Amino acid sequence: DDVEYNKMCDKHKHLLETLPKGGGWMEQHLYNYNGFWLNEMFLKANLLVHTYFKSEPTDIVLASFMKSGTTWLKALMFSTLNRDRYSFSNHYLHNNSPQSTIPFLEAVSYPMTDFTTFSTPRLFATHFARTLLPACMTSCKFVYVCRDPKDVLVSKWHFISKLRSKDLPPLSFDEAFELFCLGVSEFGPFWEHVLSYWRASLESPDKILFLRYEELKKQPEVVVRKLADFMGKPITMEEEKNGVVGEIINLCSFENLSNLEVNKKGVDKFGKLLEVEKKGFFRKGEIGDWKNYLSEEMKDRIDGITEQKFQGSGLIG
Ligand code: A3P
Repeated sequence: DDVEYNKMCDKHKHLLETLPKGGGWMEQHLYNYNGFWLNEMFLKANLLVHTYFKSEPTDIVLASFMKSGTTWLKALMFSTLNRDRYSFSNHYLHNNSPQSTIPFLEAVSYPMTDFTTFSTPRLFATHFARTLLPACMTSCKFVYVCRDPKDVLVSKWHFISKLRSKDLPPLSFDEAFELFCLGVSEFGPFWEHVLSYWRASLESPDKILFLRYEELKKQPEVVVRKLADFMGKPITMEEEKNGVVGEIINLCSFENLSNLEVNKKGVDKFGKLLEVEKKGFFRKGEIGDWKNYLSEEMKDRIDGITEQKFQGSGLIG
């Protein structure tokens, strides 16, 4: 196995030397790998997933572009699927961060965690575009959450500013905006990322549940019922009577989660290399905060790109 691992590391090194480079948000460079921008660490993780990850057809994968509502969905999917295991008055999420409920594929390292011990269905999360995932994952189910790119950009700029290498000058919002529009952004381009899952959802609608942050904000109960159905554990009449849907929504609300001691201090660890302050995953949790950051001109530019990229896809009406 070490032979295989060494071969993979050689490939990683070769790719770093040969792939097209772009300006990084966290580090100096991003690398364009099969159409998507990854940093050195995420590129390595992608090779590890391709080499060692064995998916099961029963796996359910939460996929998202970063800052689109991943933390919220992790909490919602975990608490919906495991609603018989924990009582809402003494819940796992009261003492553990949402990040800890579902592992990211980007955080794998060698030797690979033994995921075969996880109970079925196993839950995973990923920021990789659909086309960067191994072919074996075609049989998995996916929940994809997307969000207005203007809010994603603002959220991402705040988040990454804190993670940015101290060797680099701070990334101004104008620079971030420019890079984002050019598609040069960890796991991006944003629009191709969304399209990769949207196209897959058109091909196999029963395999991909396509959600929007904004619909979740407006009608969380509708989305929780959809999630329960999709994960093969529909909400029963009895549960409806007992208000289980409301319990899940309240448990996972921004107000509740962001005020729990466990989410206010300390760090979440992702693999061996990345530590993120837990409170960094909770900022405002609102729709439309972009209005406080983007000029009219900037808004028009992003909306124009969205229109052009999504035209004819069925994603915008
Ligand atoms: P803002 O920076 O706009 O506040 P991700 O989880 O994909 O990293 O996305 C983070 C974004 O989701 C942040 O957006 C964060 O505040 C928001 N968020 C986190 N938990 C949330 C929740 N329970 N409900 C609504 N939004 C949430």
